[in-house]
Amino acid sequence: MHDQLYDWDRTHHWHAFTQMAEYTPLVIKRAEGVWLYDTEGRRLLDGASSMWCNVHGHNHPAMNEAIVRQLHRAAHITTLGMTSDITIELAKRLVDITPNGLNHVFFSSDGSSANEVALKAAFQYWRQCESPQPQKTKYLTFGEAYHGDTIGAASVGAIGKFHDLFKPLLFDVIRAPQPDSRRLPKGLNGDESAKFFLDEVEAILCEHADELAAIVIEPLVQGAAGMVMQPTGFVRGLRELATKYNVLLIADEVATGFGRTGAMFACESEGITPDFMTLGKGLTGGYLPMAATLTTSEIWNTFLGDAASGRAMYHGHTYSGNPLAAAAAMASLDLFEQNDLIANLAPKIEHLGNRLAAIAEHPNVTGVRQRGMVIAFDIIRDRVTGETFAPETRVGQRIAEIAMEQGVWIRPRPNMCYAIPPLAISIDEIDILMDAIENGVEQSVTEAHSSPVSMPSDRILR
Ligand SMILES: Cc1ncc(COP(=O)(O)O)c(C=O)c1O
Repeated sequence: MHDQLYDWDRTHHWHAFTQMAEYTPLVIKRAEGVWLYDTEGRRLLDGASSMWCNVHGHNHPAMNEAIVRQLHRAAHITTLGMTSDITIELAKRLVDITPNGLNHVFFSSDGSSANEVALKAAFQYWRQCESPQPQKTKYLTFGEAYHGDTIGAASVGAIGKFHDLFKPLLFDVIRAPQPDSRRLPKGLNGDESAKFFLDEVEAILCEHADELAAIVIEPLVQGAAGMVMQPTGFVRGLRELATKYNVLLIADEVATGFGRTGAMFACESEGITPDFMTLGKGLTGGYLPMAATLTTSEIWNTFLGDAASGRAMYHGHTYSGNPLAAAAAMASLDLFEQNDLIANLAPKIEHLGNRLAAIAEHPNVTGVRQRGMVIAFDIIRDRVTGETFAPETRVGQRIAEIAMEQGVWIRPRPNMCYAIPPLAISIDEIDILMDAIENGVEQSVTEAHSSPVSMPSDRILR
């Protein structure tokens, strides 16, 4: 059966972001807490939270029970013209926990769709607001942003490897430089760092505000770009600039939401309310697909009118607001409250930081960064010249492979390493994660220095 599963997996199951010609099956048959158990009897620590989703650990009894309880009531009810009670309760709860003023919730099924909703609603807003400005049709995005893979979300993203091929299908956007703390001139600190990037944005806004519908940002951390981190105050300043230049602000918290950066939401730690906030991944604790787009009453009101006004949001997905997913989201939020989860992250964040500081000492490690429970660093051949290892050495991928031999699963990335474990990880488990990463760095760099191996790259692309 085991061999047959592998065969079917390679033959019939087309995996996301995976070169199937080089794919080696990794089949998980059970998961519990931060641990994944595969069909070969291995136990792997889930260092990427099953694609940045899992919050409370796998197979959590309270999460399971909430989903089963809802299953016995109703598995799916549409939100087109009706809804289920639990979906309403979730909408109200999201309004209560997100930054003040985000009063309305539109549900969808994945982060890309939540961003499509925000992009379309921002466009529509400028056509039906009190002083319409139909020429405001463009979006301002940042460096190697990533907002999903549907055509609209890909248009506002800029990861060449993923999206360049599709350029003829994508719409034009205006791109600001990446607000990447590694790019800051030496000697800047505190507010000066945020100002450095905000000045770049303001120069663009001066020229383009009239045609811009919205600014789209992954607040604090640009995930798929390589856990690229912004200085504190940048998002707050961006909010001020958006208001000053009359452009809407879309905060894509699909990855940063639900505690990843150490606060419930990145926008909360920056003390701002965006015009749209998109959520996904951790919304259901990582148990079921669900996403949401929240917005303010000012925007929502412009969508109201009689049926003939054409002001409704003509967008929707069959499984939007699915009650099973809503039940999982409610159970996840209960766990946040019952366990005082955000406050209790502090020692874990500190411990991750301490372990990271030790890795930072390695002569081939640079760009060490952390935001809450997200850590990352770059691998470099020469810190002084900035020379990187040749791609054939696959040094980033080797870190992940070596970590896996030691029972830790992290996503392979060329010339860098990141981890984003479930928030439920314990201090001891953080040590297991960081020991494996530390060994991975040591061994992969030694290999890269001595005999560059030529192996297939890109086996896993994201
Ligand atoms: C910031 C951000 N936005 C949007 C998405 C897309 O979400 P999904 O994969 O659920 O469509 C992702 C996924 O990684 C993301 O990191």
